[in-house]
Amino acid sequence: MSQTESSNTLRNKLIDIFDDDSLHSFQQFMASSRDLMSCYRCAIMEIETKFRVLDERFSLAHDRNPIDDIQSRLKSPESIRDKLLRKNLPFTLEAIEQNLFDVAGVRIVCSFIDDIYMLADCLMQQDDITLIQQKDYIKQPKANGYRSLHLIVEVPIFLQDQKKLMKVEVQFRTIVMESWANLEHQLRYKKSLSPDIIEKTEKRLGECAKLSNLLDTQMQEIKDVIENA
Ligand code: GTP
Ligand code: MG
Repeated sequence: MSQTESSNTLRNKLIDIFDDDSLHSFQQFMASSRDLMSCYRCAIMEIETKFRVLDERFSLAHDRNPIDDIQSRLKSPESIRDKLLRKNLPFTLEAIEQNLFDVAGVRIVCSFIDDIYMLADCLMQQDDITLIQQKDYIKQPKANGYRSLHLIVEVPIFLQDQKKLMKVEVQFRTIVMESWANLEHQLRYKKSLSPDIIEKTEKRLGECAKLSNLLDTQMQEIKDVIENA
């Protein structure tokens, strides 16, 4: 074995040891974080219920449902670990609560753009909700064409003996934005495609983003014409 080969083997071994160690301490830490994860699940339930209530009340008044779909997810332990490492943060519950705002995620899918803003406003007006951060990628789409409205909100959950404020990421999208984002997400994780194909496909996705914006805008206008007739 050459000197270079032997030092590469040692390096790989060290990487393995480090990864195993960090994985082990992370696993121990995650076991102690069951309580916190349960609190995030409760926060998701609170937010989901708020939107179900809004959908119910709106449908009573307007005879149609503004929400097509509600999807929720809890960030996986692996993703939490990766994000803590990426941000150079310690494996502590405090680090998660204070720095990771997307452990609990709720996605609201609507048919029309106006409904997104109506629902976001309704949520923000509720007196137990605090807005922490807002990113409007509908008014200002990302360079790749991604559109959605993102809110980070704080919602109280009521446990047996205490009230706890939890952060939840709420993403609002139209059905069109949702299908575009899912496709773009798939492309990003498709490692088997050649760089040339990836570049071409990204360009086509960019075109689709423009078309999807046009489709959302026109459908909104048509809905307004129909509803105001
Ligand atoms: P993360 O650290 O990845 O959570 O991003 P961030 O803290 O900069 O927040 P941002 O609001 O930009 O994005 C949060 C989430 O929105 C991501 O985790 C995705 O679910 C979604 N998102 C943002 N940008 C894109 C995009 O370009 N394409 C797709 N498909 N999803 C996106
Ligand atoms: Mg995220």
